Amino acid sequence: AQAPSGELERVLIDEATLQRRVAELGEEIARAYQGKRPVLIGVLTGAFVFMADLVRHLPIDLDIDFMAVSSYGQATVTSGVVRIIKDLDRPIEGRDVLLVEDIIDSGLTLQYLLDVLQRRNPRSLRVVVLLRKQKPGAVSVRADWVGFDIPDEFVVGYGLDAAGRFRNLPFIAVYRNAAQG
Ligand code: PRP
Ligand code: MN
Ligand code: MG
Repeated sequence: AQAPSGELERVLIDEATLQRRVAELGEEIARAYQGKRPVLIGVLTGAFVFMADLVRHLPIDLDIDFMAVSSYGQATVTSGVVRIIKDLDRPIEGRDVLLVEDIIDSGLTLQYLLDVLQRRNPRSLRVVVLLRKQKPGAVSVRADWVGFDIPDEFVVGYGLDAAGRFRNLPFIAVYRNAAQG
């Protein structure tokens, strides 16, 4: 594994711990959707690594789709405006939908997506999120499965970026130069 550079303060969740938890989530989620064929919706770009690892722990019939949204762009603080950059390829009406997200920070992205998806009348709509920040003032948003509750620090790695960098780290680290938002 890559060693943290000077821009990373410390490793928050190491690779083995991440992999163990993702496998656990997979078991729970597979049980919940036994005999069904859910469509998993990954939220690009941040969720791509989690999605790829999670589905390999789901020995069930499923479909994969992606939606791309962005609210941070190059910044470390949310703009508060969520933009859809790529919509789903297929309709989700009547489907069992599992939204796969990397992190709940302010909660705005997930709140927006749940609203957009619910209006398309899925049969069910649930959420798995790898990381949830303990953030005062965050909008409260429903998550059915949470990988880890983490402190209010800017984190990178395992799909999460700082201005596009560090998505390829196999662990989660705290970024040193982030403005606290
Ligand atoms: C990040 C992250 C979540 C969202 C969480 O995405 O991947 O999707 O922010 O923040 P929030 O709870 O404050 O809305 P970002 O907008 O940086 O796009 P990216 O996934 O392409 O990095
Ligand atoms: Mn994202
Ligand atoms: Mg980002």
